[in-house]
Amino acid sequence: MRIAMFSTKPYDRRSFEAASQGARDLLFLEPRLTVETAVLAAGAPAVCLFVNDDASAPVLRALHAGGTRLVLLRCAGFNNVDLHEAARLGITVARVPAYSPHAVAEFTVGLMLSLVRGIHRAYQRTRDGNFALEGLLGFDLHGKTAGVVGTGKIGALVARALAAGFGCRVLAYDVHRDAALEALGVRYVDLPTIARESDIITLHCPLTPETRHMVRAETLARAKRGLVLVNTSRGGLVDAEAAIEALKSGQLGGLALDVYEQEADLFFEDLSNEILTDDVIARLLTFPNVLVTGHQAFFTAEALQAIAETTLGNAAKVEAGQPLGAAEVTLAATAPRPA
Ligand code: NAI
Repeated sequence: MRIAMFSTKPYDRRSFEAASQGARDLLFLEPRLTVETAVLAAGAPAVCLFVNDDASAPVLRALHAGGTRLVLLRCAGFNNVDLHEAARLGITVARVPAYSPHAVAEFTVGLMLSLVRGIHRAYQRTRDGNFALEGLLGFDLHGKTAGVVGTGKIGALVARALAAGFGCRVLAYDVHRDAALEALGVRYVDLPTIARESDIITLHCPLTPETRHMVRAETLARAKRGLVLVNTSRGGLVDAEAAIEALKSGQLGGLALDVYEQEADLFFEDLSNEILTDDVIARLLTFPNVLVTGHQAFFTAEALQAIAETTLGNAAKVEAGQPLGAAEVTLAATAPRPA
């Protein structure tokens, strides 16, 4: 079965070639999947997509017309796929439900530490011969209240690191509770309580119509002054323009983003010779207390290997008519689980 792989970079090619050992017909394509590029997959029964590929209804129809019946997501999130249209067309959608939650959780804690201690700024300063500390005053994580929104695989690891590792008071919000975290002292509360009491908030829930802009002007207005916000989940969870206003007023004391709502036109590309036309990201990058990374949290050797192996395993299961289990993304999988 030929797999047309969109948005591929040299590191994708290396990890998928190593995992397939030459046993798979992999077509590595650099373009992002859009309605214009879907034709590149003509004749391929399967496509393999990443986070910023567009698998909306018109794109799925174009793929289907070219013979595609399987969408292999090489990521965990599936907010970029129109599952209603996929079901209507009889296209199977598979993902990598877990590869290395540690990769994302560790990066999240790294962003948090960089931001609250100004490590990103110190790196720049010392390279310029500036060893002054003025402006780099941070605060201890120990004893602070951290709000973790979404305590699935990644959020649970972050909550554990903050509670057991750093000695934070951890408040959590999720549609279901993790008893092991509660045993560590993590307390489940509602979202307004998280917003009101947290010094730091970190987001780890999926992007759905319900969670889009869960952090917006009203949320930020209710927060503690100087709140530090970290988002390594999906850009759409945060209203970036509201965040800019809150940064300008000092209500938001720090912001670390590995994801950005309009990232599809920016991230994973070297745009250093181009003029940035997105005024929101351009403004965000002017704040000394904003740290932006380009959807890098997953990017470890372990995660790339696991992604390639699971994705090719998903393709093999579909070919063999075997059930995909947790890797299958169905409309039912998107329904909220009972509390
Ligand atoms: P997961 O499925 O294990 O956990 C998600 C948790 O969010 C679940 O416990 C679920 O009950 C909870 N949840 C669902 N709706 C919610 C709501 N409305 N409010 C609060 N909680 C809600 O997923 P995992 O593996 O922990 O990943 C979390 C997110 O991280 C993914 O959705 C993905 O978007 C993002 N991600 C980002 C990466 C990066 O490189 N920056 C890499 C991998 C994942």
